[in-house]
Amino acid sequence: MHLEVNSEEFGTDTLKGLSNPIQKSIPSKYLYDSKGSFLFEQITVQPEYYPTRTENSILEEYSPEILQIIPKEIILIEMGSGSSKKTKHLFDSILKRQDKLYYFPIDISFNFLDSVVTDLETQNQNIMIKGIPNDYINGIKDCNNILFENNFKFDSFSRLIIFFGSSIGNFEIDEARDFLKAVRINMNDKDFLLVGFDMIKDECLIEPAYNDKAGFTAQFNLNLLTRMNRELGCNFDLNEYVHYAFFNKEKDRIEMHLKSKSDQEFRISGSDRIFQIYQGETIHTESSYKYNEEKIHELAIRSGFSLERIFSDNNNWFNLVLLKPC
Ligand code: TRP
Repeated sequence: MHLEVNSEEFGTDTLKGLSNPIQKSIPSKYLYDSKGSFLFEQITVQPEYYPTRTENSILEEYSPEILQIIPKEIILIEMGSGSSKKTKHLFDSILKRQDKLYYFPIDISFNFLDSVVTDLETQNQNIMIKGIPNDYINGIKDCNNILFENNFKFDSFSRLIIFFGSSIGNFEIDEARDFLKAVRINMNDKDFLLVGFDMIKDECLIEPAYNDKAGFTAQFNLNLLTRMNRELGCNFDLNEYVHYAFFNKEKDRIEMHLKSKSDQEFRISGSDRIFQIYQGETIHTESSYKYNEEKIHELAIRSGFSLERIFSDNNNWFNLVLLKPC
C-alpha cells in the first residue's frame, strides 16, 4: 500500500480540519511524508529535544531487565519505527537469548521505511526484517496475518509490541485509550506492550524541545504546507506562516500550530471554497500530551492492560511502561 499518495483521504481530512470555524486543524499524521520523516530525525538529535536521548538511555540501561519479564522467545513489532535507532538496544539483548529475531517495523512513511529496512538488513544477519508500510493498527493486523500464513505457533512466542518516542502523547486522551484498546484486541495473553511516555515537567524544559534553535521543528511544521501545496493543489505562501509551539498547562500538552502573519486566503484544489485566515489565527497541527504516573495507570486500566513495570531515568523525565493484557 502506498500511503504517501493516498491523497483522497488526505484531501477529505484536510478539508474537514480547515473548515472548523472554532480552530482550524490538520491531522498530525500528515506531517510524516519523506521530507517530514527526514526532518523529524534531525529534531531528535537537537540538544533541546530531550525525549529521544532520555528514552534511549532508559533502553540502554534496562533492555536486559525488560526482557527478563518476558519468558518466551520474542517476535518484535514496532509501531512507528522511524529510524529504528533506539530499538538497537533491544535487538542486542534479545539476540543474547535467541539465535534469530523476527522484527516487523511498521511505519506510515514507506520510502523512509524502505531505506531503514535495507540498512538494518545489511547490518544484522540474525534479524529477519519485514517492513510494514501501514498505519499502526492495520500494521499489527498485517504482522499477525503474515505470522499466521507462515504457520507460526503463537503458543511458543511472545509478541513484544513497542511504541516509542512518546507518540502515545500525540493522541487525545480518549483517543489514546481507544487506540490501546484496539492494540489489545490484536494481542494474546502472552504478549507484551512497551510504551514510551514523556512526563509532565517544568515548561522551561518542555517548550525549548519544540522550538529548537536550529529551526528543524519549524521546518518540520511548515513542510506540511509544502506537502499540501504539492499533493492537494493548495496555494499556501510559506513566507506568510510561522511555527508556533507552547505548553498548554491546563491540558498538560504541547500544542504546535502554524500561525498566519497576515489576513489572507487559501484554497484547496477540487474545492470551490476560498478559506480565510486572519492575522494571528492558527492551524493546529500537533499536540503532545505529557503524563504522570496516575494518568499512565488510568490509561492502562481503561484500555485493558495491567501495568507490569515502569522503567525511568534519574530525573523521571521519561517513562517506559511495560503492559500486559488483562
Ligand atoms: N512524538 C513526538 C513528540 O510528541 C513528536 C514530535 C516531536 C513532534 N517534535 C515534534 C511533533 C514537533 C510535531 C512537531 O515529542
